[in-house]
Amino acid sequence: MRETASENPRAQAVLSLIGRTPLVPLRFSREGVTILAKCEFLNPSGSVKDRLAKCVLLDAEARGELKPGAIILECSSGNTGIALSMVGAAMGYRVTILMSSSASEERRRLIRQLGAELILFDSGGMYQTGIEMSREMAAKDPRYFLPRQFENSLNVTDHEQTTGIEIIEQVGRPIDAFVHGYGTGGTLAGCGKAIKRRWPKARIYAMEPAEQALLAGECPCCHFIEGVADGFIPPLLRDAPIDGDVKVRSAEAMAMARRLHQEFGLLVGTSSGANVVAALRVAQESGPEATIVTLLSDRAERYFSTALFETEAQGKEVSATQISRADETKSSSKPSGEPQNVQSDVRTSALPN
Ligand SMILES: Cc1ncc(COP(=O)(O)O)c(C=O)c1O
Repeated sequence: MRETASENPRAQAVLSLIGRTPLVPLRFSREGVTILAKCEFLNPSGSVKDRLAKCVLLDAEARGELKPGAIILECSSGNTGIALSMVGAAMGYRVTILMSSSASEERRRLIRQLGAELILFDSGGMYQTGIEMSREMAAKDPRYFLPRQFENSLNVTDHEQTTGIEIIEQVGRPIDAFVHGYGTGGTLAGCGKAIKRRWPKARIYAMEPAEQALLAGECPCCHFIEGVADGFIPPLLRDAPIDGDVKVRSAEAMAMARRLHQEFGLLVGTSSGANVVAALRVAQESGPEATIVTLLSDRAERYFSTALFETEAQGKEVSATQISRADETKSSSKPSGEPQNVQSDVRTSALPN
């Protein structure tokens, strides 16, 4: 008889790395506030979605729904696809991911590198097309197992029982607000429920891209905060205890992500920047003593080919060109043996602060 993941030491290696992420204080001196940030980007595949993959696949295997020969099939903007590919590989299952062609190249490569099959669909960034495709494929082939991240109540329950409880224990005092974006809504709904149960006065805020603030009654439009607000209000968010929403522009999200890289040394993605912008706004309204919590959802490496890295990449190219030109000038105009300190001067002026 085939051993299940809970008995399989190969699967256990990666499964044991998921969750129990650290919570760190981010001190914003200029703004005079501190935000508590849970480092979900430290999960082994680099995002909060590892939790969903672990929980749903272990549950399906335990119930006998995920059996040898099954193919895990999911529509994902990337992070869930990567997480399912990673856990699926370790548990010994084939994985097929349906992904919008607008998702970043890095995500596609990681999914393929983990041995999964990737099917790209063109939908102008909207998810519904991929969800319908996965349903049609599953109806025709019984080998497909659908985690159904957008409808699966385990997505909420798991965050309620793991991420939310971890936050409560790590903070260790009353929480005034929890602020987070939503894709499926699982993280926001699950953490929100756990925090409200423990601290009923805590306020739960949904971060929404300003270009697409659906909860604020606005229409879908394009934004650059990958992983959140995919053009509809997800079903899992319907009974979430949400007290308000905070709109964040894509440009603000990217600027904050770069601040997190360059002022805090935290290499996180655009949505983490957006979460922190929203959390800062709530903190500034709540006063300096308030305890405000958010999540850093995924890693910066996932965004090399996106606008998040554009300024940085251009800055480095300019810097490298200037360095070599300056070196050429120096070596031709100065006697050899004289200190060559041009390189550090150019780097200081060409690189962002
Ligand atoms: C990169 C990323 N992945 C996932 C999520 C949240 O996922 P979900 O709402 O599906 O739990 C977020 C939310 O902010 C996110 O930024």
